[in-house]
Amino acid sequence: MTDMLTAPVAAPDHAGTGAPFRVGELDGYLTCTGVTDVTHDVRSFTFALPERAGLHFLPGQFLTFRFLIDGERRERCYTISSPPTRPETLTITVKRVPGGVVSNWLHDHLRAGDVIGASGPFGQFSSTIHPADKYLFLTAGSGITPAMSMLRTLRATGDPADVVFVHSARTPDDLVFRAELEALAAESGTSVVFLCENDSPGEQWHGRRGRLSMATLGEAAPDLLGREVFTCGPPPYMAAVRELLGRAGADRRRCHEESFVFGTAAPATSAPAGTATKHRVDFRRSGRTVECDSDTTVLEAAAGAGLTLPSSCGEGMCGTCKLTLLSGRVDMQHAGGIRPREIKQDKVLACCSKPLEDLAIDA
Ligand code: FES
Repeated sequence: MTDMLTAPVAAPDHAGTGAPFRVGELDGYLTCTGVTDVTHDVRSFTFALPERAGLHFLPGQFLTFRFLIDGERRERCYTISSPPTRPETLTITVKRVPGGVVSNWLHDHLRAGDVIGASGPFGQFSSTIHPADKYLFLTAGSGITPAMSMLRTLRATGDPADVVFVHSARTPDDLVFRAELEALAAESGTSVVFLCENDSPGEQWHGRRGRLSMATLGEAAPDLLGREVFTCGPPPYMAAVRELLGRAGADRRRCHEESFVFGTAAPATSAPAGTATKHRVDFRRSGRTVECDSDTTVLEAAAGAGLTLPSSCGEGMCGTCKLTLLSGRVDMQHAGGIRPREIKQDKVLACCSKPLEDLAIDA
């Protein structure tokens, strides 16, 4: 994720609609109210959002969810796919990942009435934070979810912004929100381009084929340089798009990225022995101490002390690895997973904090 976050965000009035979205924080529980099939392997899960939950989000933001699966606590970040203009509910849209512990559990077990832990919102990948007259959304697979929240919001608020929405999928069966996007494409101001690599068993694809190319980009958005660009998809897709946008001469300050391929981030099994200054890291509650250098994160140091701390993104984004620093100072290069008031309360994110001196940690 390239956008850096300092949450909570003071949400601007949304494109002059006179209806600013308040940004409130949630650290509690959400009740599932419904499950809907979107494609053969993508489902939307809707949660009740009572006013007292205190959650107000911006389109494109995400939540960190906590699950207890087979007795083990798991955390994952999921982007909200619904717009904040539906005040009583929020929806996440999740694709089954082969071998994915959490995505498969969600598909197989989460039902209306179930309660799961959630905190957030997090993220600055939002059209509200980067408002423009013209947008280009480039998405692949389930990377469509934040862009869909943004597009739904723009249209629900009557925002006249010109939107080009390019969505790439393997086959026509894998196009997420296809019918809704086709309906939106019939509206003025929204241009939708689908790209499929192959036919699906039941449908021969007559639209654009293959992966996103310079030619497709140029045809879909000839005025690309005048657009605010939001890209979300798997890392190889993001890398390819970054290269295309670079070749097209897009202004990097107007190009925003997000990728959620984590939950696989694992700390190193031992603190690497570097040549930088050595520091003692004392994990007080577990009574473990390890010596590590200033190039080692607290998460790696914990692994080196034989401690497995909760973590998810490994990038300072999701807040899963938050800890309390009892003494010492760290260099924390986070990406929005922690709030300024938490930093004032001596909280740190273990995955992106490196010791500047000896540390004592409440873990
Ligand atoms: S693991 Fe996500 S912020 Fe540290």
